[in-house]
Amino acid sequence: MKRDHSPVLPGNGATDYARYMRTETLLDLQRRPEEMIHRDELLFQVAHQSAELWLKLAQAELAEAVTLVDAGDPATAEALLTRATLAVRLITEQLEMFRHLAPAVFQEMQPALGNGSGAESPGWRQVQAASRQLGRAFGEHLVARGTTPAKLRGTAPSDPVHRLAEAMLDWDEQVSLWRVRHYQVALRIGGHAPAGTPGSPVTMLAKLTAHRFFPELWQARVNPTTEADSDNYHPSCP
Ligand code: HEM
Repeated sequence: MKRDHSPVLPGNGATDYARYMRTETLLDLQRRPEEMIHRDELLFQVAHQSAELWLKLAQAELAEAVTLVDAGDPATAEALLTRATLAVRLITEQLEMFRHLAPAVFQEMQPALGNGSGAESPGWRQVQAASRQLGRAFGEHLVARGTTPAKLRGTAPSDPVHRLAEAMLDWDEQVSLWRVRHYQVALRIGGHAPAGTPGSPVTMLAKLTAHRFFPELWQARVNPTTEADSDNYHPSCP
């Protein structure tokens, strides 16, 4: 029997796929060819807009993970955090597309971008805020259980809190990997003072690659006998 493809959903579009995915709106979010300074604006906008979408998913998963940790459910929180990490891995891989953006073309399209900077990315800001919230929620959860990051090392790898701590390290690591890759893209495309120049944006990007949301978890991994072992564990909020 032939499947019926006639649309049944409300909304714009000739098919239910178009109506549900809102493809007309989505595909109208990029500058039209006649508006572009250079045709590679499409590459530039698609790479950034799709990153915003993955960051939207990452933020939603992180926010839910925070709620779950607060509710005492680290196992489900870990599953959602793992999804957020995968979303950032995907946007890291997407940066490969900038191999095809020539520095001269990037310079040419600057007037189209105004004073805009990826540093203003709403998705990135929300993901950072949610990461800090996760650090806070996890710290409180450890205190409530009377444990510390260092003591977690001695727990079974299958323990839900142990697993969540590992997933938090994965998250920190993936954010840093994105930053390393993004730093390399910025260097390669150029237009800024070279890395190492005091105050240069690329120098700032290089420094950010060392940033960690959960330094206590890293510290406990390196040296379990430092203050992270203290019974008065308080997570820092970098
Ligand atoms: C042509 C590609 C890109 C270049 C040349 C580039 C360059 C830069 C530079 C030089 C900075 C330092 C601040 C500034 O001067 O504005 C920066 C910051 C930033 N950019 Fe990009 N970028 C590119 C693509 C992207 C993409 C696809 C994203 C994804 C959302 C992004 C997100 C960010 C973020 C979040 C920051 C703040 C620094 C951080 O938190 O690590 N950038 N970018």
